[in-house]
Parts: sequence; structure tokens; C-alpha cells
Amino acid sequence: MPEYVKIVEVGPRDGLQNIKTFVPTDVKIELINRLSNTGLPVVEVTSFVSPKWVPQMADNADVLKGIDKNPNVSYPVLTPNLKGFSSAMEAGAKEVAIFGAVSETFTKKNVNATIKDSLESFNSLCDEAKKLNIKIRGYISCVLGCPYEGKIEPTAVANVAKQLIDMGCYEISLGDTIGVGTPGSMAAMLKEVTKVVPASKLAVHCHDTYGQALANILTAIQMGVSVVDASVAGLGGCPYAKGASGNVATEDVVYMLNGLNIKTGVDLNSVIDSAKFITDFIGMRPESKVTRAIAKL
Ligand code: HMG
Ligand code: MG
Repeated sequence: MPEYVKIVEVGPRDGLQNIKTFVPTDVKIELINRLSNTGLPVVEVTSFVSPKWVPQMADNADVLKGIDKNPNVSYPVLTPNLKGFSSAMEAGAKEVAIFGAVSETFTKKNVNATIKDSLESFNSLCDEAKKLNIKIRGYISCVLGCPYEGKIEPTAVANVAKQLIDMGCYEISLGDTIGVGTPGSMAAMLKEVTKVVPASKLAVHCHDTYGQALANILTAIQMGVSVVDASVAGLGGCPYAKGASGNVATEDVVYMLNGLNIKTGVDLNSVIDSAKFITDFIGMRPESKVTRAIAKL
């Protein structure tokens, strides 16, 4: 087991992108500022995608420019293409995330391209990012199952992971986009991926649709993964993945890791306060069991 696990907070991006009612820019900024003061080392801010595809992220530049930048926190943003990349640069991004997938149908629905074309486009984006010394994180969606194509072969995940590493990604986040994985399929997938990319360069990104996220994360940690994506209050879902529910809640991951004596640097109560702030605003109950228990919600 690792001594330290880095938690990558994806709530302001993955958590909010699926919410139909527009969350005002100042509320997004307040959420990110609160999360930045919880000890989280990474807070994913927004995505520079087409506002026609994801209207909730249309205020990307204003959000990125408006937040208080904590020097101890990284603030990556999603960029789907060179257009998004240059807008992100203009808004002052220092780190970007690209997002591929292992399913043709999902890739078409998510970025309107084939897997091959989308990887070629990301390759050009990475060349630009490297020239500017911008760090690149790589996502792969549907690693444990696709909403349109069903079962995904672990070797297909390994193949895309290797290509993203070769493009210059410093870390690959393996996304169980629709939360169908189990500890069994997580272990089988990681066994194959770690043949080509070391566990030290992998993260897991578990949606919790079937209630397996914490078990899957524990499995990944036991296999040497020490980076875990999570979303405050368990918000989240991909608008182009039918049936995808929220990400694992940050509070639940912190609680589990505290119990394992694994350091995260994250203050649980501060994350619970951030969860209450955003769910009160949206008008929903936090999905986190820990927040519900501790805040008696
Ligand atoms: P397209 O329609 O094929 O794009 O979309 P296009 O190149 O044909 O351009 C069409 C229009 O979009 C043009 O404008 C472009 O300028 C504009 P028009 O001439 O019609 O006025 N455009 C842009 N505008 C702003 N920013 C841009 C941009 N690019 C083009 N970057 C595109 C292709 C990739 C843009 C689109 O499919 C898209 O934005 N997709 C993003 C979908 C998305 O954000 N999905 C959620 C994130 S992924 C996720 O959640 C999974 C993850 O969490 C991991 C997991 O859980 O598995 C990461
Ligand atoms: Mg996601």
C-alpha cells in the first residue's frame, strides 16, 4: 500500500458538466476556492470544450481567470482540440488534460471523431503543449465497460495508455465512465495496463453507478496506484455516456484512506463544508455517505 495518495478533485468539471441548470460563474469560483483550501493538491477547474456540446462549461475562461490560485494546488483544464488548447492558454492554464477512449461509439459521441483521429488530434495538441512546457494529463474513458459497446478488452486499454504516455502525458487517468467495474475487472485491466505503463503513472477515475467505486479504488491502491480522482459530494457524470452517475465522492475516498492510515493532506471536514455549499446551491442531497452521516443530512 502507498504511504500517500494524491487525490485529484474533478468536481468543478466532471461534477458540474452534467448539471442541466447553469451554475453561475461566481458559484463555480467560490466552490473551487473552497476546495483549494482543503489540502487537495489538484482541482480540475473546467473544460475548454464546445459550449454547444457542454453549455455548463461555457464560462471556462472566466472561471479559470477568476479563481484565487493557491500555489500548492494544480489547476488542470480539459482541452479536446487545438482550439480549446489555445483558449486555455489565453486564460492562463498551466496544465491541460486530454481525453481519449477505448470505444469507437463513445469517442464518436463524445468528441465526434474516430479513436485514431482523436488520438492524432491529441498528438498535435501535445506537441504544442510540450513547446510551451505545459503539463499534460491523459484520460481514457470506458476502461471497464462502454455504454454502447459493452465489454472492453484490457489489452485495448493498455494500447491507448501506451500511446498517451508516448505523446507526453505525465499521468494516465483510467476512467470507469459508467461505473460498471468490479474489483475483479479493475484488477484484470490494471494487470494488462501495468505491462506497458508503470503503476506510478496511473490514476483511477471511478464513477459509482453500481456502488463499486470504493472497492475498485482499494483494489487499484493495492496494486500500486497512488492517484485517485474524486468529486466533491459525489457529483458527476458524462453527458455523452448514457446512464453514467456521479464520481466517487471525495469525502468517501478521504475517509477510507484516513482509515487505512494513508496520507492525503486533505481535511475531511473542509471537504464536507464544500460539499454542503455546492449541493445546497444546486438543491440536492450530497451523494457522499460520509457527508450524510457526519452532517446528519
Ligand atoms: P465538432 O462539432 O465536431 O467540432 O465537435 P468542429 O471542429 O466541427 O467545430 C464545430 C463548432 O465548434 C465550430 O464553431 C468550432 O469553432 C467550435 P461554429 O463555427 O459552429 O460556430 N469548437 C469549439 N468551441 C469552443 N471550444 C472548443 C471548440 N472546438 C470546436 N474547444 C468537439 C468536436 C471536440 C469540439 C466537441 O465534440 C466537444 O466539445 N466535445 C466535448 C465533450 C465533453 O466535454 N465531454 C465530457 C468530458 S469527457 C468525460 O467526462 C470523461 C472523463 O470524466 C473520464 C471518464 O469519466 O471516463 C474525462
Ligand atoms: Mg468522468
